[in-house]
Amino acid sequence: MYMNFWYPMATSAELTDKPHKVQALGLDFVVFRDGQGKAHCLSNTCTHRGGALAGGKVIGDNVQCPYHGWQFNGEGQCLKIPSLGKDAKVPARTRIDAYPVEERYGLIFAFLGDLPEAERPPVLAVKEWEQPGWRCTLQHFAIKGYYERSIENGIDPAHNEYVHDTHGFSGEREEEYKVGDMRIEESPPWGRGFWHTFQAPPLPGQLKQYRPGEGTLEAGTGFFGTNQVWTYIHPGPNYFIHQYLYERPIDDNNTYLYLVCARNFQTDEKADAYVVERNQYVANQDVKIIENLHPRVTPQTNTKEFMVPSDQCILMYREKQKEWAQKGWRIDYDAMKRNEHKVAYAIPSPARREQKGWVLDAVPLVAPEDAPAQLAKSERLAG
Ligand code: FES
Ligand SMILES: [Fe+2]
Repeated sequence: MYMNFWYPMATSAELTDKPHKVQALGLDFVVFRDGQGKAHCLSNTCTHRGGALAGGKVIGDNVQCPYHGWQFNGEGQCLKIPSLGKDAKVPARTRIDAYPVEERYGLIFAFLGDLPEAERPPVLAVKEWEQPGWRCTLQHFAIKGYYERSIENGIDPAHNEYVHDTHGFSGEREEEYKVGDMRIEESPPWGRGFWHTFQAPPLPGQLKQYRPGEGTLEAGTGFFGTNQVWTYIHPGPNYFIHQYLYERPIDDNNTYLYLVCARNFQTDEKADAYVVERNQYVANQDVKIIENLHPRVTPQTNTKEFMVPSDQCILMYREKQKEWAQKGWRIDYDAMKRNEHKVAYAIPSPARREQKGWVLDAVPLVAPEDAPAQLAKSERLAG
């Protein structure tokens, strides 16, 4: 798991007038709206004696700890320590880590890291959002699996034939089946992907009108940052589905997924339920695979799996992850978990670059010198 990316913390609709507890990267966060409706995200641990802020209340623009009533604003500054009396000065060191928040596409994103604004990897943009001729849906669900495994599933062209009867022939056409050429698409410096062409079965039900028989389907997909995937499916001329997947690792065996799906057909709201249902049908097929992978967490070396050319984009993803580890963004999850009940950690926020003396320890990170530089040549492509 990596700090310094944007993580989807909740849907806009979920965030009402109460503090909301969200787990991400093995840690707890509190997300709340201030009096103006602006969303904020803080580390959930109160700097007094460890109260969980999400169990408290929103008072005006602040979140109030349920234990002794300390109040923190959206920047993480403590404004009130009731036990000191009304006019007491609040020491600066009581500050809690607060993370940049963006509310977009019906989601609350938090930047869990300390990079200054200009250096942050962006949220993967939904270009079709509120554009004429397009309609978007949002759906979300939890899986019992590691997020990297799910991202890698999203950028794997070879699973469609076997996992999805909506996109492939369930192995019945093995004689003529082969993954076609993958045409690489770069989104520097944060992502890579590819386009390819494959044969797909006829479209069912009300989608039949767009491609009555089986046919050639153009699809592109790629990762963007550590936790986002775009997938463009073009099943027929001028019939487009553009999907954006945002993942929040809860811990090393649980992930929460948010899927924004843009379509340029049946743009009436009435068709939303059918689109969501079909997406979930496909997603559930992936989930069944991901929840049974072994090991649960992606191996740190590729020699423990035998890669073939259709795994090319997965290897590119692993290379990028190593680049981000080289920058010192990889969380030392094992070290963090060893101290789980002994130390309250926080992901360092941008304010830590300006202010010293924080109460909570910053999460342990894998030192760049301990992160493998690049995949060894023998680990690249076996096929
Ligand atoms: S633990 Fe939060 S106010 Fe005491
Ligand atoms: Fe899939």
